[in-house]
Amino acid sequence: MKHFVRPLSTLLTSCLFFLFAHAFPRALPIPQGQDGSGSRELIGDLRTVGPTTPVGRSIANIIMGSESGQSSVIGQRPANDTACAADPCCVWYDVSLALTVLFLGPAGRCNNQARAAIRLGFHDAGTWSKTNRDSGLDFGGADGSLLMNFGEDARAENNGLQGIIGKLRIVQKLFKIGFADLVQYASIHAVVTCPLGPRLRAFTGRKDATRAAPDGLLPDVHAAADSLIALFQDKTIVPHDLAALLGAHSTSKAFVQPGVPAGTPQDTTPAVWDVRFYNETIQSPSPKGVFVFPSDAVLSKHPAVSTEWNSFIDAQSHWNEDYATAYTRLSMLGVNNINSLRECSQTLPPARPDFPGASVQFADS
Ligand code: HEM
Ligand SMILES: *[C@@H]1O[C@H](CO)[C@@H](O)[C@H](O)[C@H]1NC(C)=O
Ligand SMILES: *[C@@H]1O[C@H](CO)[C@@H](O)[C@H](O)[C@H]1NC(C)=O
Repeated sequence: MKHFVRPLSTLLTSCLFFLFAHAFPRALPIPQGQDGSGSRELIGDLRTVGPTTPVGRSIANIIMGSESGQSSVIGQRPANDTACAADPCCVWYDVSLALTVLFLGPAGRCNNQARAAIRLGFHDAGTWSKTNRDSGLDFGGADGSLLMNFGEDARAENNGLQGIIGKLRIVQKLFKIGFADLVQYASIHAVVTCPLGPRLRAFTGRKDATRAAPDGLLPDVHAAADSLIALFQDKTIVPHDLAALLGAHSTSKAFVQPGVPAGTPQDTTPAVWDVRFYNETIQSPSPKGVFVFPSDAVLSKHPAVSTEWNSFIDAQSHWNEDYATAYTRLSMLGVNNINSLRECSQTLPPARPDFPGASVQFADS
């Protein structure tokens, strides 16, 4: 009997593929829901017209989980003005050098400007929602509005980010790159500047904002887990990807939390992009000198998040890869020209997966 069943199911699969291939002539079938990720969805022009370019296809694959969001391709800045003018990524080598100076501490770890830049990328991109999109308010997201002069830097949720905003405005003036691209490039540059940090693929060509982002779309540190999960779902970020994104608090320090001494970190190694955060967040009591955000405490225990959360403990490369997937999605929210972006990953500094002294607690930057 088995004998007959097999060819039949093979035939069925071929038929389904035939149908599928015709329905989406350019899109590769993308496996969804791998390792319990829930169902991910496409965004921007990838959702409306599908991937129509090699870059569009890569970004679709990355955010759906079937292609890596990390790159190890290292380039070299063209040597003279003529060659530089011919390479659209050339300016990013110069931006990268400036950002390394800004983000790298004297002991080789990442500093306060780096952590602020990582958060800035989230606070710019995180101001987008499906609810708004579906009611005709498709603006906000990774559009650089937080770096522009629309007054977003005065919102309470952006307290603590004013310093990095001022510095990146100078970088933008110097190199005349787009605000939206600079915010996201700075965020991933800061991540790879931290020891052990992944080297996310850098995409440029986003459109800059023409107005302030909608208010009220960033998470409240005291909110309940269910409402935080729903807030991120409305940005197409599934709990599995949220678990990976929250690991950014591995390099964070709280500067503006009432009752918490300014500069209190969220794990014992805040200048290193390691996975200690995942273990330390769930310890009771928390390690001395660490302030666990109430949001991280409740999310780490929520059944939709906890399995993935625990799977990152002692699993650096698993977390790095999942962060790359999730952050690439975050960095594309509100971007409706994904197919016309360009990849400039080669301009980023190399990753440093091995760093002597990575595990020294409370070490200086
Ligand atoms: C439930 C979601 C989140 C909540 C409630 C939250 C909340 C916070 C709070 C309250 C702070 C401290 C700010 C201060 O006192 O200076 C902070 C810092 C930070 N957050 Fe989050 N966050 C969330 C998600 C994220 C995500 C998705 C990222 C990045 C991918 C991120 C990256 C950071 C970083 C790097 C800092 C440190 C900033 C600095 O040291 O200047 N956070 N976050
Ligand atoms: C500029 O550099 C390119 C390759 O990097 C080289 O082929 C070219 O000859 C150089 N031009 C000048 C004027 O030096
Ligand atoms: C997690 O933290 C606890 C308490 O500090 C420690 O005993 C345990 O070994 C840690 N586990 C890992 C995998 O780091």
